[in-house]
Amino acid sequence: MSMPELRVLAAGLLLAAWASGAGAAEALQAPRLGRPLDAQEVTRWDLSVFPDGRGLPAGRGNAVEGAALFRQHCAACHGAGGRGASAEELAGGTEPLTSPTPDKTIGLYWPYATTIFDFVRRAKPMTAPGTLSADEVYAITAYLLYANGLLGETDEMDARTLPKLRMPNRDGFIGIDAPLPPR
Ligand code: HEC
Repeated sequence: MSMPELRVLAAGLLLAAWASGAGAAEALQAPRLGRPLDAQEVTRWDLSVFPDGRGLPAGRGNAVEGAALFRQHCAACHGAGGRGASAEELAGGTEPLTSPTPDKTIGLYWPYATTIFDFVRRAKPMTAPGTLSADEVYAITAYLLYANGLLGETDEMDARTLPKLRMPNRDGFIGIDAPLPPR
């Protein structure tokens, strides 16, 4: 092989190496995170409950049932009656938000009762989230409302009644006008 021929061959090899290198770099840049979810997993994580009650599942519960569940699953951290222990108080606040030392208990702070359901279902109990049934979450939600003086002890909470409960601090937040997903 003559020198010019060699040079052409070397250039060709370089080009081929660059091309395959570019392909490899592209593959490396792809995030390669996660994996496709199957239908069952999508259902399990489809948890969002909107302020207007959309997303609430079938089921029901009242504060009498919720009190027992709260003692069992929540009181170790949140104290008897939700009055606070190692974790924050959820009920029994007296200082309004306008006070220099406000109590941000559910009754004084949370704008929507439906959010209690959403939060408890997705995050509680802290060491075993996702283990409570819809009935249990309705009952615990009813108990937290009852403990905050916003509900009778035997009032039933379900997908119809929970969104109707108007929280005292309903208008205390500034809306951000985020569009809701289509129904
Ligand atoms: C192992 C301790 C632990 C247990 C058990 C537990 N929580 Fe909590 N909880 C916490 C801690 C710590 C926080 C504050 C940090 C956070 O928001 O995650 C919290 C926060 C909360 C809040 C939000 C308070 C607020 O206004 O920001 C609610 C509501 C709540 N818990 C309800 C419950 C309910 C209902 C149960 C039982 C089903 C429960 N928790 C069980 C530790 C616990």
